[in-house]
Amino acid sequence: AKSLVDSLLPPSLDESDPSLLRATSFVFASAISRAFKCKDIKHGDYQCNAAMPLFQKLKALGQLPPGVNSPVGMAEAIVAAIPNDNPILDQLTVNGPGFIMGRIKASYLSRWVNDLLLHGSPHKPKLSTPAGTVVVDFSSPNIAKEMHVGHLRSTIIGESVCRILEYVGHDVRRVNHVGDWGTQFGMLIQYLKEEYPDFSGNVPNITDLTEFYKNAKQRFDESPEFKKISQLNVVQLQAGDRECREIWQVLCDVSRKEFEKVYNRLDITVQECGESFYNDKIPPVIEEFEQRGLISVEEGGAKCVFVPKFKVPLMLQKSDGGYGYDSTDMAAIKYRLTEVKASHIVYITDFTQGDHFQMVFAAAKKIGWVTDESHRLDHIGFGTVQGEDGKRFKTRSGDTVRLVDLLDEAVARMETSLKERSNIPPEEIHATASAMGYGAVKYFDLRRNPTSNYIFSYDRMLDTKGNTAIYLLYAHARLESIVTKGKAEHGVDVDSLLKEGKAKITLSHKSERNLGLHLQFFADSIEETLKDLLPYHICDFVYALSIAASEFVTQCKVLGSPEMESRLLLCRATAITMRQCFDLLGIRHVTRI
Ligand code: ARG
Repeated sequence: AKSLVDSLLPPSLDESDPSLLRATSFVFASAISRAFKCKDIKHGDYQCNAAMPLFQKLKALGQLPPGVNSPVGMAEAIVAAIPNDNPILDQLTVNGPGFIMGRIKASYLSRWVNDLLLHGSPHKPKLSTPAGTVVVDFSSPNIAKEMHVGHLRSTIIGESVCRILEYVGHDVRRVNHVGDWGTQFGMLIQYLKEEYPDFSGNVPNITDLTEFYKNAKQRFDESPEFKKISQLNVVQLQAGDRECREIWQVLCDVSRKEFEKVYNRLDITVQECGESFYNDKIPPVIEEFEQRGLISVEEGGAKCVFVPKFKVPLMLQKSDGGYGYDSTDMAAIKYRLTEVKASHIVYITDFTQGDHFQMVFAAAKKIGWVTDESHRLDHIGFGTVQGEDGKRFKTRSGDTVRLVDLLDEAVARMETSLKERSNIPPEEIHATASAMGYGAVKYFDLRRNPTSNYIFSYDRMLDTKGNTAIYLLYAHARLESIVTKGKAEHGVDVDSLLKEGKAKITLSHKSERNLGLHLQFFADSIEETLKDLLPYHICDFVYALSIAASEFVTQCKVLGSPEMESRLLLCRATAITMRQCFDLLGIRHVTRI
């Protein structure tokens, strides 16, 4: 839509120019700039609904153009003002109460796809706001606890959000706000002291930290004595006691190694900056709130901040003087705003933490660190992952599913199916199955609105049909294999055509034009994603694209046809765009399946 406006606006537009043509084209351009992709492209490629509000506004001002006395009339006037020889739009029609529907000219689409090919990648949409520093707080598991499916969701969504923001040019800080500073450390430290009495900075061989955590918790619940010392350990740890710090460090290191394994498998990049980092940044923040008179001290001495619309306050300091989740997040947001100089901060956690973050944002506004205009603050809250029985996702024996087991299972199933169906060499099977298995897990999560809960199903995510990564990866590989055959069997080498800058596509058949149109929708899907930061728009796009591509290869003969060169190039353009989408979703593509 933006490129429409650019091409239609007179180069030096003076809004006060009395010339009617200029005025109308200005009105038209601003109206059409709000055009959007049609839901159903049977009626048009793009739709613009601006005629109706425009009619009301001009009517109220008493400035309706001559002869216009209804929204439909307004829409017709807009259509009439568009020069026929414009390079982009074809067939403008007015529908219903004043919807303007338009088709994009095939010549424009051809040029667009040619550009994509010569460029080697689809055009990036222009940002409506300048690029800035964006902090994305994601993954963020808790030390000494197993990473669970919830953290998997945050990790998968977060990685994709980072890639999308980086793609359009933002400076993205990927932050792993690990839970490395809670009261649980008191009992963990105590348990380690008891289990490894001669511990002296050597890393004890704790292979199963979850088991370790369980045992410590059991001791904590059973023995009042143990509980008491544990609580003392927390105070000592926070005060910087050497032994406590050392043990804490060991526990963090063991956990970190486990987290790293998951990140490596899934191609995740994230920098750890956990809760402990903010420990010494909390007191000045509390002081700032105190100085501004924004703290209310509760009975018992807890220091709280109330924010509009919430009955419960944020607790900046507990009655025993300790700091909790709220304290850390207030110090973290201040740090990110003032030190990191973020203009946009995104938090990705399960939806139950929604209120917490809305309160953190409101408190940051209350104290004047941000305004609605100065910064963008987002919380993406996702739903729970359920088992096939609709209940919380558990193993058969009722334990929570370990993330590594889940990933192993996806890969193992993929290996079995590849062994049955494909003829790739045995030494490639594992790598291919891993890319596809992990891709399937990620895509199954990303393709839906994160607020919804979803039922975890290997069968559905590994399905070769329907909206799955497996289907898409096959579709992509098929397109590339057509390109390969073009060279091997017909001597048309797409790569050298591109190298010589000779790519020239003509979109004449209906399904060629349709595929070209879909390729061009790429920019729309990115624009949509930037609004709400939900990667499913890209999934919807790439799925629709691959359907358009499969229609094209069934309807149009590619290999050996007179249009072979153009059609092979169209296959390549589609494959390039699909790879771009996979990349933004954090999915590895495979060339041979
Ligand atoms: N560790 C938390 C959890 O497991 C998530 C932390 C999210 N980030 C934050 N700044 N609070 O739920």
